Amino acid sequence: MSGRATAVACANIALAKYWGKSDEALNLPAVPSVSVTLDALVTETEVAVDPSLAADALVLNGAPQEGAAVAKVGDFLDLLHGGAARPFARVTSVNRFPSSSGLASSASGFAALAAAAARAYGLPRTDAELSALARRGSASAARSVFGGFVELPAGEPGDASLAAHPLHGPDWWDVRVVIAMVTRAPKDVASRDGMRRTTKTSPYWAAWLDCAPRYAREVREAVARRDLQATGEAMEASTSAMHASAWAAVPAVRYIRGVTLDVLDRVEALRRAGVGAWATMDAGPHVKVLCAAADAPRVAEALQAGGGVVDLRVAKPGPGIVVT
Ligand code: DP6
Repeated sequence: MSGRATAVACANIALAKYWGKSDEALNLPAVPSVSVTLDALVTETEVAVDPSLAADALVLNGAPQEGAAVAKVGDFLDLLHGGAARPFARVTSVNRFPSSSGLASSASGFAALAAAAARAYGLPRTDAELSALARRGSASAARSVFGGFVELPAGEPGDASLAAHPLHGPDWWDVRVVIAMVTRAPKDVASRDGMRRTTKTSPYWAAWLDCAPRYAREVREAVARRDLQATGEAMEASTSAMHASAWAAVPAVRYIRGVTLDVLDRVEALRRAGVGAWATMDAGPHVKVLCAAADAPRVAEALQAGGGVVDLRVAKPGPGIVVT
């Protein structure tokens, strides 16, 4: 058999964070998370099934890959087939934003790969099944299958079918996320390793497990009311608790840099000046700021004033995966 399909997926930003796993083998999150899928951060992935290939091939942003990266994609394609024998495939993926920098390229990447591979291999899957499959690559990828505001529940160990589900479509709420990139360097600790170290060594791991579901509920309820202040405050609380739990790991897992703190100061100054703006960070030093659409230009200008921001994007709620 030979088939070919292309899928486009957007990255997403967690408004309530996923950090840590309840089941490493099935990649199940220990806590619920709520995200918004973002239109400005796009991955496009083509899967071409080719029986003449002697092995899977992967080209990422124009560069042929070897070793672990190819093996990870191969394992993922095996999962799609439930371990049954399959012809090899050529996977070509392009990120329209810097990869491995805390901008969630694994989320859009595995969502796009799941959708393109299912179509190319002629294995139809529902969105929930694609989400559960994408989750095995990266739990945050389960959320990128859907557009708009999305929830991924915590997983009970063994629950292989756990999937994200959409809460509200992209048109629900016209918010903006201003993404202030503070470096172009790749991140130093992969989120998977950071989570493992936090789970095993952080004295604040139990505290994180205790508070994360509450923040996820607060975010979900605030998004349902389109209450920007309540969403922003719960998002910041979730962010601080996640990073504190990681920072207390031994050795520390610290994604926040000096320039991150400078940008956070600018967000606080905006609030003091009466602008509704709230910040979050993921497994990297970049700062993403949630605000109303009308305030985005002012927020963007304020984040850049004072230096340290190397690139800035303004994103709005975006669509789920599209396969062609
Ligand atoms: C901080 O989904 O990249 O961005 O499942 O191990 O691949 P794995 O982790 P990943 O972690 C994302 C963590 C986060 C918060 C979030 O997106 O919820």
